[in-house]
Amino acid sequence: MQRIGMGIVGVGFVGPHHVDAVRRLGYVDVVAVADMNDTIARQKADQLHIPKAYGNYEALLDDPAIQVVHNATPNYLHYPVNAAAIAKGKHVVCDKPLAMTAAEAKKLVDLATKAGIVHAVTFGYRGNPLVQQARHVVASGGIGTPTFIHGHYLQDWLLKDTDYSWRLEPDKSGNSSALGDIGSHWCDLAMHISGLRITHVLGDITTVVPKRKKPKGAREAFQTGGPGSKDDFELVDIKVEDLASVLVRFDNGAKGVFTAGQVCSGHKNDLVLEVCGSTKALRWRQEDQNYLWIGNRDTPNQVLQKDPSLIDANVRDYAHLPGGHQEGWPDANFNLMRDIYGFISAGKKASDAHPPAFATFEDGYRANAIIEAVIDSAKNSAWTPVKY
Ligand SMILES: NC(=O)c1ccc[n+]([C@@H]2O[C@H](COP(=O)([O-])OP(=O)(O)OC[C@H]3O[C@@H](n4cnc5c(N)ncnc54)[C@H](O)[C@@H]3O)[C@@H](O)[C@H]2O)c1
Repeated sequence: MQRIGMGIVGVGFVGPHHVDAVRRLGYVDVVAVADMNDTIARQKADQLHIPKAYGNYEALLDDPAIQVVHNATPNYLHYPVNAAAIAKGKHVVCDKPLAMTAAEAKKLVDLATKAGIVHAVTFGYRGNPLVQQARHVVASGGIGTPTFIHGHYLQDWLLKDTDYSWRLEPDKSGNSSALGDIGSHWCDLAMHISGLRITHVLGDITTVVPKRKKPKGAREAFQTGGPGSKDDFELVDIKVEDLASVLVRFDNGAKGVFTAGQVCSGHKNDLVLEVCGSTKALRWRQEDQNYLWIGNRDTPNQVLQKDPSLIDANVRDYAHLPGGHQEGWPDANFNLMRDIYGFISAGKKASDAHPPAFATFEDGYRANAIIEAVIDSAKNSAWTPVKY
């Protein structure tokens, strides 16, 4: 099998997980990292045993040993890094959200399509075996017609006013925080599992913590512990939402509702999605991801435990361990990379049919368009169509 060279731009919280996942494939060489400057890049490269380190992304993009560029930088760098990588003819795997705005995301779709490169967005929850099971059951009519899709994505890492992240700064995150950061995952998953599109939204957005203590030094995501003395921080006004509740309508007439928030104590990475159909319902919870709840009307409810021998043969290869052996977030991420790199190594064109866990820039664009519609809707207190 031909080896594929990978380079990654931005190695903070999630970047090392990209590296970990592609290394598990066995035929991908992690060639280089690029980060903010030479010193940081070298440090990160050494920590991860990656040979080359670049102090800027342009230098990494010039490296001929790299065919696939992973972009795990803060959101404001998604567009420029992706666009420059596409211009160099590299395949691109970008973290979510694809861009700061729907317009930027659409431009990336167009640039990638024109260049004929393979493009992907890391909506990694798609890679979970029971998510694929749920998608397969819904697609084969196993719950009847979906009528109501609901759930939430709640975290607590921004609960205190001493919690801080670039995700709260519109010039780095976009004009949304909770929605872009985690609401985008929920929307992608709802559409992925149901096979439907969100067409209209009615949003109610809130900034629960309106002033925060911004540390004077940089912080990575999920870093805990606030600043020590009052000289370590400046008090800043927060302009983006940390909590959002959204009513949604789907293209088959189904209704839905979800909440995304990062200020909900005790919820660590609590993504829940339930699809109610005309005959049955299915519910998947990320924090309990080896179980799929099946709601029945006339017989007792069921819980399907992740077990390759019990899930459908069509999606069995998303599970790697026998029943009772827990699989988790990194395994789903691995499945995503397996689908993406399998596609690249088979020499497929971006227009060819994709394996299910593989989200493309088109999917990223849809999520950006939904978030933008929610923000508009909340501003105008009105149902708002999603402009794809
Ligand atoms: N798919 C997922 O489940 C998931 C999970 C977490 C984060 N993310 C996304 O991944 C991206 C990164 O998030 P994170 O939590 O890792 O952030 P982070 O702040 O922890 O890391 C960002 C990294 O980018 C580097 N960086 C900043 N400016 C740079 C520049 N000009 N050139 C090169 N590198 C630069 C930083 O030094 C840091 O190493 C975000 O878009 C986020 O939404 C996705």
